[in-house]
Amino acid sequence: MNFFSPIAISLLLALLSPSLLLCSGDSTTVDDESPPPTVCIVGSGIGGSSVAHFLRNYSVSTGLDRARILMFERHEIVGGRMRTVTFSGDKFEAGGSILHPKNYHARDFVERFNLTVRLPTSIEESTALGIWDGKRFVFKTFGCSDVIKFPFMDKIVSLVNDLYLFLRYGFSLLRMSSFIENTVGNFLKYYESRESRPIFDNVEAMLKWSGLYNLTKVTLQEKLSEAQLSPLLVNELVTVITRINYGQSVLMSGLAGAVSMAGSGGGLWSVEGGNWQMAAKLINHSDITLHLNEQIESVSHLGSYYELNSTKGNSFKCDVAVVATPLDEVDIQFSPVISIPKRKLQHTHTTFVRGVLNPGYFGMKSVSDLPPLVGTLEDPLIPFSSISILRKYSETDMAYKIFTRQLATDSLLDELFSVRTETLRIDWGAYPKYHAPEVFAPFVLDDHHLYYVNAFENAASTMETMAVAGENIARLIVSRFMTNESSTSSDTRSCGSGLHSDL
Ligand SMILES: Cc1cc2nc3c(=O)[nH]c(=O)nc-3n(C[C@H](O)[C@H](O)[C@H](O)COP(=O)(O)OP(=O)(O)OC[C@H]3O[C@@H](n4cnc5c(N)ncnc54)[C@H](O)[C@@H]3O)c2cc1C
Ligand SMILES: *[C@@H]1O[C@H](CO)[C@@H](O)[C@H](O)[C@H]1NC(C)=O
Ligand SMILES: *[C@@H]1O[C@H](CO)[C@@H](O)[C@H](O)[C@H]1NC(C)=O
Ligand SMILES: *[C@@H]1O[C@H](CO)[C@@H](O)[C@H](O)[C@H]1NC(C)=O
Ligand SMILES: *[C@@H]1O[C@H](CO)[C@@H](O)[C@H](O)[C@H]1NC(C)=O
Ligand SMILES: *[C@@H]1O[C@H](CO)[C@@H](O)[C@H](O)[C@H]1NC(C)=O
Ligand SMILES: *[C@@H]1O[C@H](CO)[C@@H](O)[C@H](O)[C@H]1NC(C)=O
Repeated sequence: MNFFSPIAISLLLALLSPSLLLCSGDSTTVDDESPPPTVCIVGSGIGGSSVAHFLRNYSVSTGLDRARILMFERHEIVGGRMRTVTFSGDKFEAGGSILHPKNYHARDFVERFNLTVRLPTSIEESTALGIWDGKRFVFKTFGCSDVIKFPFMDKIVSLVNDLYLFLRYGFSLLRMSSFIENTVGNFLKYYESRESRPIFDNVEAMLKWSGLYNLTKVTLQEKLSEAQLSPLLVNELVTVITRINYGQSVLMSGLAGAVSMAGSGGGLWSVEGGNWQMAAKLINHSDITLHLNEQIESVSHLGSYYELNSTKGNSFKCDVAVVATPLDEVDIQFSPVISIPKRKLQHTHTTFVRGVLNPGYFGMKSVSDLPPLVGTLEDPLIPFSSISILRKYSETDMAYKIFTRQLATDSLLDELFSVRTETLRIDWGAYPKYHAPEVFAPFVLDDHHLYYVNAFENAASTMETMAVAGENIARLIVSRFMTNESSTSSDTRSCGSGLHSDL
């Protein structure tokens, strides 16, 4: 499925080099004798680590340039929902896996920190998809691995698949491509130069500015029907995609739906050795004091500062507190109490299986008749969302990744697989359950300096969107902190107002 033409990386770099807006050093009122401010970040995922990175970048020559940054992570490793597992001696992504060619912050992190781009292996890249309706495959495309490998076979197979797709879905496919391209195009506004890009103090304003807000008001199904996509395409191919990427149906919000559709195009990539290394590098290069195995249980605003207490009994004093984790399933006591809209997380059970699928389950005679990616329709009787081959050791011995909405029980796995030698299960509180119209928590949880990066997850939860949200939070902190630090001095206001448009 190649809905995108790859873009040149040079264009990416051109977009990524906005000049930094500097305030002259002598305009700040903080004198060097006063203790440096402390910024505390709860969560070491891509969101929290991006806040730290961009905070260092944006606070040069501001009242925050000497800030101490403390980061708290309840687990013993950084990265959060970016995590690899070792399964059968191989490393696989268990959480956030694929990046889009236009995920420019992720691209920048990889280049900046000398990480390596990993392109999909031939089996992962295979265009062979089967759409399972619970009884039969309603649609199947070819993969290259089925045929003798000649260099030109890739092209032919992809042409044949395009023809197959076209025969089934017709011109709706083109309308689908242009819908995705338009949405991606709107999102690119977040990489515009810093001078022309406002700082947003709420998610709604951020989405309105790029023209994406309306997409959160309607379901994907409504939006696609308005864009004149055939119900067949929506109920089959699009449903397969939203079930794989968000474990949800086309009744999810139009924006999250569009983002998940963008994640099914060509040119997808990941970080060699694990996407979590982006967080590790960002943290390592941002001069942070990292507290691993330190779970924050309370955040109290005590007049002029925040007190963060951990379950270890430690207490930390912070001028700025940043929550960089979804608050829906964690137990953090806020004082004073904060109020945010109720939100449920979609749980995705990721199960790794080594063995071989049971062709009989799918009404087939031989395993080789099964496509490397099995997607499914929205039907409560179908007990899994997708099954894909991660690695082929031999024709009868493979590593698979299965997504389900509930725990994949042994009895289900025994039906699906004729041989199963190894199994690994992970239950993720994966991403929000998306609704339309969507409601958003505020970026600023009180009237002071308590920030919430994951308010943006109701737009769409991806590694890149959380980095984009993290950048905005960093700018918001710098501008709000400076505005207050300098409230006694008029010459610093001009500096602050250059950075911030709507305080
Ligand atoms: C199965 C799955 C597949 C996905 N696939 C993709 C994909 O292909 N592409 C993509 O772009 N995105 C994908 N995503 C989404 C992506 O992984 C997330 O959007 C992103 O990683 C979220 O980053 P974050 O920093 O906001 O949150 P998190 O990564 O969840 O980070 C929050 C951190 O805070 C820590 N924490 C929580 N509470 C506390 C506390 N009280 N004290 C201290 N620490 C605490 C947590 O341990 C965690 O490390 C996927 C997610 C899942 C689960
Ligand atoms: C901040 O980031 C921009 C864009 O990547 C870069 O040009 C600039 O040098 C950075 N500044 C600092 C102080 O890190
Ligand atoms: C980048 O990584 C490569 C290989 O991992 C290494 O040879 C090279 O020295 C690294 N460069 C920098 C600037 O760190
Ligand atoms: C969003 O919807 C509003 C009200 O329906 C409309 O006025 C506006 O033009 C729409 N914006 C975009 C970008 O489509
Ligand atoms: C972090 O940086 C230090 C040196 O500054 C280095 O020794 C260490 O290996 C780095 N860690 C990671 C995870 O990159
Ligand atoms: C946090 O810890 C401090 C020091 O132990 C204690 O005085 C305070 O009551 C704690 N706050 C909360 C909300 O538990
Ligand atoms: C800024 O300072 C004023 C007065 O000291 C205070 O009331 C206000 O809450 C502060 N704002 C922030 C964002 O801290």
